[in-house]
Amino acid sequence: MKIEEIKTVAVVGAGNMGHQIALQCALSGFTTVAIDVNPEVLAKAQQFCDSYLPQRVAKGKLSEEAAQKARSLISFSSDMKEAVKDADLVIEAVLERLDLKRKIFADLDKFAPPRAILATNSSYIVSSRIADVTGRMSQVCNVHFFNPALVMKLVEVVQGPHVSDETAQCMLDFCHKIGKMPVHVRKEVDGFLLNRIFAAISKEAQWLLEMGVATVEDIDRACVYGAGHPMGPFRLMDLTGIDLTYDIGMSHFYASGDREDLPTPSVVKKVTEGKLGQKTGEGWYSYKD
Ligand SMILES: NC(=O)c1ccc[n+]([C@@H]2O[C@H](COP(=O)([O-])OP(=O)(O)OC[C@H]3O[C@@H](n4cnc5c(N)ncnc54)[C@H](O)[C@@H]3O)[C@@H](O)[C@H]2O)c1
Repeated sequence: MKIEEIKTVAVVGAGNMGHQIALQCALSGFTTVAIDVNPEVLAKAQQFCDSYLPQRVAKGKLSEEAAQKARSLISFSSDMKEAVKDADLVIEAVLERLDLKRKIFADLDKFAPPRAILATNSSYIVSSRIADVTGRMSQVCNVHFFNPALVMKLVEVVQGPHVSDETAQCMLDFCHKIGKMPVHVRKEVDGFLLNRIFAAISKEAQWLLEMGVATVEDIDRACVYGAGHPMGPFRLMDLTGIDLTYDIGMSHFYASGDREDLPTPSVVKKVTEGKLGQKTGEGWYSYKD
């Protein structure tokens, strides 16, 4: 597949990441469908588009014509089979669960055209752990966006050993075409580049909290005012979802058997209490106001 052949994009999972990835594709001229099993998530994604585009126009960041065009290019669906049938590229952005992703890729392989590239937005899972359920391994790769996907420029394109050069190049070209800055990760490694670097910082921050060395607020302040980070590790966890930190910790533990990989007690407590960050109105910080 060459970039010129990509006209239609399907994004599976319209949650935190998926709805913004889909809108970015529509804003870049691709016919795009955002798919989710949860009707409330789909309604929220649609509402977001309907408020975001006029806001950008009002701020002078987008022309009225471009906003209308993007809105006409994006649609929403709960029927994955129907929605991916004409897709040239499918980007999966469902929960970070390997079994779920494998099930979805097996279905996508049946429902999407044989030419289509199937990409996963997973934060940590390399595509070779998913691709073998399909009959098109050379067209299955990681295309990893950052949160919020409409704002963050970086996208990691990960080329595992099964991924063809043509697929990797097409995804790098696609990222440029949607206004992103891709990096080509040439070897598969869980967590790719930036999440590995930030996971090390975040884990250290969580243990400093656990040991009572400093508060959430002061650890975040240290990273913002001392290291120039745009936000500290706890604020970042609230943005990405504390459940994601939990899921990643658990999958590391299952892979390594090393207790050090388990989520820290405070992370487990937040998840048990349903305090997952911005999306639930409370995490390390409160967002109720
Ligand atoms: N949150 C982040 O900051 C971030 C950043 C980069 C990558 N990611 C990755 O993106 C993916 C999605 O993360 P998220 O934070 O958007 O999760 P999320 O929980 O906000 O959204 C996931 C969505 O998938 C939907 N879903 C579940 N099963 C489905 C199915 N069978 N068909 C269609 N939709 C289905 C759910 O209803 C939900 O709306 C994960 O793999 C995650 O690792 C997340």
